[in-house]
Amino acid sequence: MTYYITTPIYYPSDKLHIGHSYTTVAADAMARYKRLRGFDVMFLTGTDEHGQKIENRAQEVGVTPQKFVDDIVDWIKDLWKTMDISYDKFIRTTDKEHIEVVQKIFKKLYEQGDIYKSEYTGLYCTPCESFFTEHQLVDGKCPDCNRDVEKVKEEAYFFKLSKYQDRLIKHIEENPNFIQPNTRQNEMLNNFLKVGLEDLCVSRTSFKWGIPVDFDNKHVVYVWIDALSNYISALGYLGQDTDYKKYWPADVHLVGKEIIRFHTIIWPAILMALDEPLPKQIFGHGWLIIDGGKMSKSVGNVVDPSILVNRYGSDAIRYFLLREISFGQDGNFTNKALITRINSDLANDLGNLTSRTVAMIEKYFAGTLPTERIDNEYDASVKSIISHNVALMEENIERLFFDKSLENIWIIIRRLNKYIDETTPWLLAKDANDTNKLAGVLYTLVEGLRIVSIMIEPFMPNTTLKIWQQIGLSRGELTHWDTIHEFGKLTQVHAKKYDNIFPRIDVEKELTELAHPVSATSQSNDKLDITAEISIDDFVKVELKIGEVIECNKVPKADKLLVSKIKIGDQIRTIVSGIALYYSPEEFVGKKVVVVTNLKPVKLRGILSEGMILCASDDNGNLVAIGPLGEMVSGAVVK
Ligand code: MSP
Repeated sequence: MTYYITTPIYYPSDKLHIGHSYTTVAADAMARYKRLRGFDVMFLTGTDEHGQKIENRAQEVGVTPQKFVDDIVDWIKDLWKTMDISYDKFIRTTDKEHIEVVQKIFKKLYEQGDIYKSEYTGLYCTPCESFFTEHQLVDGKCPDCNRDVEKVKEEAYFFKLSKYQDRLIKHIEENPNFIQPNTRQNEMLNNFLKVGLEDLCVSRTSFKWGIPVDFDNKHVVYVWIDALSNYISALGYLGQDTDYKKYWPADVHLVGKEIIRFHTIIWPAILMALDEPLPKQIFGHGWLIIDGGKMSKSVGNVVDPSILVNRYGSDAIRYFLLREISFGQDGNFTNKALITRINSDLANDLGNLTSRTVAMIEKYFAGTLPTERIDNEYDASVKSIISHNVALMEENIERLFFDKSLENIWIIIRRLNKYIDETTPWLLAKDANDTNKLAGVLYTLVEGLRIVSIMIEPFMPNTTLKIWQQIGLSRGELTHWDTIHEFGKLTQVHAKKYDNIFPRIDVEKELTELAHPVSATSQSNDKLDITAEISIDDFVKVELKIGEVIECNKVPKADKLLVSKIKIGDQIRTIVSGIALYYSPEEFVGKKVVVVTNLKPVKLRGILSEGMILCASDDNGNLVAIGPLGEMVSGAVVK
């Protein structure tokens, strides 16, 4: 039994945001679930590294495109590590194996007549790297990003997309699960396929950063053949590797709704031309939106997942993303909704169930439950809620209805909490005659918790382990997925209290801190750490000296600015710095700092600032000024 799931390969033109994490977390939850069900899983993610946009971005930063993407890919891999993304393979379109596969595919299609050379005059959207026909434009603008398009004419290769139109329509109509959710299927059929497909431009001559067409070097393979082929090149398509035979066709390509057209029309047509089977399903989920609009770097409203993961942990963010928004539909992201859910669902519902259960077993039975136990009148209802919701949860997750499957788990959790109130174990504990009854209550709770801990593993793998630690389990027979189908598997119970699995969060405090300039909703200070290499000649142009702060004041009407008088040798300079949130004027006086002394002076709030104080800052909004580690006179040169 194999299961092959993919995410889109993301553009490493910038850091990824919470929207990219959303697709990846969903794919990860599914991959984990299938592994727990005994499938041999291939979970693929990666990066789509070619194209004009990346070429331009690299040029802006002053590095080669390869160096540019290498740095971002490192960052992306770190992000996936912190979010516990258990991918099996990370494909990069700059991988040698991928390049070879794309060149071979292109050549094969050319030789068999599915790709031909012609001239293209089209309407091109540079940011989206897409050509459009007149009737695809919306109010004369790009239908995907609403920007202006330009008329472009060039020699190009074309793929005979139109040839596959009828076969595609037939395939979609005969396979109702091929495009999910259903609404997207109608959209593709009615808005694109039935309107008529035009042949597709598949090469470009206007930029170089792409895979060269090996029999016509002037051209590079245009983005979609390059990008879409990743799903098979990653499996060693055309090579000796057996992964392609083993895993293809994919069970599901998870994508955002804006690229469903490419995945349900262009990709299947390419596969038809190659005479390869089509993926079983393409699921186009909705967008995470902010205040009703799309997240975008230019609007400045992108949410950085790493900040949230650092504050609240990966499990909480994973839970929120999949619980809050109905998969398939758009959903609003707010910090408030996130924190409220962490408090209500994780700290209150799940956290309390765990800590109360474990604490009572410790308190009343010194951590070990006796085997003599008596059931009570509420047990039947608890057991039936559990078995009913276990079945529903499995049904829902199989259909990628993550929010519903989590709701099924929470119905169980809330039922167990209610059971504590119904059975009042603290009263049973008062009467020695009720010991077996009390043991029965605590058994139901801990067995319920065991089942819950297994069910949440695809979503919150760390929390599962924390619960197991408290109820004396480690991975083994009793943690196997199949054991949740039968209540009462646990025989011996040893419990031990550790820290709360989800401490409650102070909502107001968190919201204020998140609204801080270096925050989850503003990335103004969150620049990419891609820097061009400089020579020593460049470095020595910067004059750095030790300075001593001899006077410091707030800049009137500027919350963030301090103005300091700095003694540098026998000179005294005035310097304005954005450090008022981190240092009071009083504490800054007397500090020795490193100053850039040959910066061109600038006027800030009417004050001439003659240099810059060096500071270090991190992603969490901390900042410190940099100074000498030992005694050093002011005016000393830093080199
Ligand atoms: N490189 C192409 C995909 C090629 S796949 C063969 C691409 N890359 S992208 O970096 O723009 O990523 C787009 C994908 O990121 C979306 O399809 C979706 O999976 C995810 N998301 C980006 N922003 C998102 C939201 N605001 N909300 C939800 N998902 C989002 O397109």
